[in-house]
Amino acid sequence: MEFVLIGAGQRGMIYSQYAHGKGHAITAVAEKDAVKREIARKELDIPAERCFADAADLLAQPKLGDAAIIATMDRDHFGQAIPAMEKGYHLLLEKPISPVPEEVLAIEEKARETERLVVVCHVLRYSPFFREIKKQLDSGAVGRIVTVQHNENIGNFHIAHSFVRGNWRRSDTASPLIMQKSCHDLDLLVWLVGSGCRQVASFGGLAYFKAENAPQGAAMRCADCPLRDTCRFSAYKAYLPVMGNWPATVLTENQTEEGLREAIRTGPYGRCVFHCDNNVCDHQATVLEFDNGVTATFNLSGFTNRIARTLKIMGEDGELRANEYTNEIEIIRFAANGVDRCESRVIHPELTASGHGGGDAGIVEDFLALLEGRQAEAASDIRYSVESHMMACAAEEARLTGTVVRIADFRRRHGGTRP
Ligand SMILES: NC(=O)c1ccc[n+]([C@@H]2O[C@H](COP(=O)([O-])OP(=O)(O)OC[C@H]3O[C@@H](n4cnc5c(N)ncnc54)[C@H](O)[C@@H]3O)[C@@H](O)[C@H]2O)c1
Repeated sequence: MEFVLIGAGQRGMIYSQYAHGKGHAITAVAEKDAVKREIARKELDIPAERCFADAADLLAQPKLGDAAIIATMDRDHFGQAIPAMEKGYHLLLEKPISPVPEEVLAIEEKARETERLVVVCHVLRYSPFFREIKKQLDSGAVGRIVTVQHNENIGNFHIAHSFVRGNWRRSDTASPLIMQKSCHDLDLLVWLVGSGCRQVASFGGLAYFKAENAPQGAAMRCADCPLRDTCRFSAYKAYLPVMGNWPATVLTENQTEEGLREAIRTGPYGRCVFHCDNNVCDHQATVLEFDNGVTATFNLSGFTNRIARTLKIMGEDGELRANEYTNEIEIIRFAANGVDRCESRVIHPELTASGHGGGDAGIVEDFLALLEGRQAEAASDIRYSVESHMMACAAEEARLTGTVVRIADFRRRHGGTRP
């Protein structure tokens, strides 16, 4: 297969390197940053004349491959996905499809109209961990699902990196937190529960990462701060010890101590976490009711130590507890009383080296199988992904307006014609 890559950043390179490593060609790249463009050219063996400084330049060419990998920032996807499909490309499209509900629905509609295959990068559907949970639920391990408690534990240093200092700190330039971080979680809920969502309520906000919580004497940047040896958010503590690895790799291509110190001195990741221009939530609690009657609570929080999802799925006959960090899925069947031993077992799904617990490799494999006609549909086809995006947008509306939002009404108000 032949791919063109639009956006050779963190995500775009992961998918492209995987496909390239499996013998598929990356025939062209569009990347704004000259250093990243050159890295992509070299690592992916792309002819120099097919390296473009902007997606629009690549999309102005005749069709250069079978499919486009679109991995630019959230608000760029719409303006690139529509012309790419019109040009004839199938799409591996990063999530969120778009933070704007009308654009989400328009991309889905364009895929249908042009008969393009569009797989949205809900990589968790492909991780052995979540696949095992799905398999257990479908085989009736806990009986019919009644209610779910789901936590997305963002991790304290991770929220400071990505959602306070980083690319996704503002809902107007990127996406609201529930869309950016948790279209994945809402997609998992739809998939695991096996139903679309009926209605949603949501509460939360920005509790901590704001000026009023800055310690006395804190400077605007870590480089100038007298507290930098004691503050746990010091950029020197966050990035220097992990040089060469995420998240230090996000700061600069120059992964030397000198390069990182310079990025901390001058770049966005050296700003005080209490003095950034962030406006996305640092905690958000959402309540959902699904069309099949299942209820769920979803807690999205930056105030956790680990970066891992934890779930409790409660069914008529038992409960399933899952902890992504310990890679444990515990299934307990209810006993008749409080004395008898419950039937219980613990599963440790296969661990893989690929990112997102194997999901990054899994989604590319699925997309390849689809393109090569080895399978009829993808687990993360855009038709399925639209539901989680409507839920995320509706949850944000519910949070901002203090209302309960019905998903069908929300879809209609934003131009959706399908139920
Ligand atoms: N599936 C997941 O689990 C997951 C995880 C993280 C991020 N993401 C999503 O992936 C997308 C990219 O995130 P990232 O971390 O790779 O960001 P990134 O900043 O590393 O990469 C985006 C790249 O797009 C380039 N770019 C921007 N505008 C361009 C244009 N007009 N033409 C060509 N190139 C352009 C930028 O220079 C940058 O290199 C985001 O939408 C993000 O939400 C998904």
